[in-house]
Amino acid sequence: MSRKVIIAGNWKMNKTAAEGCELVNALKEKLGCSCYDNVDIVVCPPFTTLGAVVEAAKGSRIKVGAQNVHWAESGAFTGEISAEMLKTSGVEYVIIGHSERRQYFGETDATVNSRLKAALNAGLKPIVCIGELLEEREGGLTEKVLTTQIRGGFDGITGEQMANIVVAYEPVWAIGTGKTATPDIAQETHAHIRKELEAMFGAEVAGKVRIQYGGSMKADNARELVAQADIDGGLIGGAALKADSFAALIDEAMGK
Ligand code: PGA
Repeated sequence: MSRKVIIAGNWKMNKTAAEGCELVNALKEKLGCSCYDNVDIVVCPPFTTLGAVVEAAKGSRIKVGAQNVHWAESGAFTGEISAEMLKTSGVEYVIIGHSERRQYFGETDATVNSRLKAALNAGLKPIVCIGELLEEREGGLTEKVLTTQIRGGFDGITGEQMANIVVAYEPVWAIGTGKTATPDIAQETHAHIRKELEAMFGAEVAGKVRIQYGGSMKADNARELVAQADIDGGLIGGAALKADSFAALIDEAMGK
């Protein structure tokens, strides 16, 4: 089963509109070659930077994603952004359920599920994040935690929808810490995730779902991680903030 590699940069709360455009323009130069046709490249800036980055990325192979979306279509939800607002702004992807949102903003599997349905209804391509905490890994609970997140997060989703959802496996203990899961540990966990998806949606759908690894991925470790059978790309924080490091990581992930 061949799945197209997808590398997405999660800028988190970094980059003004001007800084975001500068980064995208530098990436356009580095990633102009048709040799990048067989990888999906996505950048996910903060909301206030999205519009400028959509413009800057136009006509290039760089796709744009948001970092969150609200589940309601419209209404009294001060500070929130709807899926339709993102879609009509030229946004294609959206990250849902990042561990920082689960940790600091009360995100649960139920809210992930509601946001996911809203994103799909608006025609956005979701990147749904799952992952275990350090104490859960150390307590031997990783598979159980991931299974719960998968069953709750993807409840009520059709197989057809699932086949186009990207899952990002991000062990929370590896995010921003410089600690990466070894390729073996990451592969073992990705295989478990695919097995759970198979139990819910069948083998054909599970075989189509792209599962990214995230957590201190950089040029140095991207090649070995993406070479694993069930690792189909990466969700990148720190190393996505500079054109040099992001482009170098993409090259390594592609085995160049
Ligand atoms: P990191 O972040 O690459 O800086 O560890 C990854 C993420 O949180 O998506």
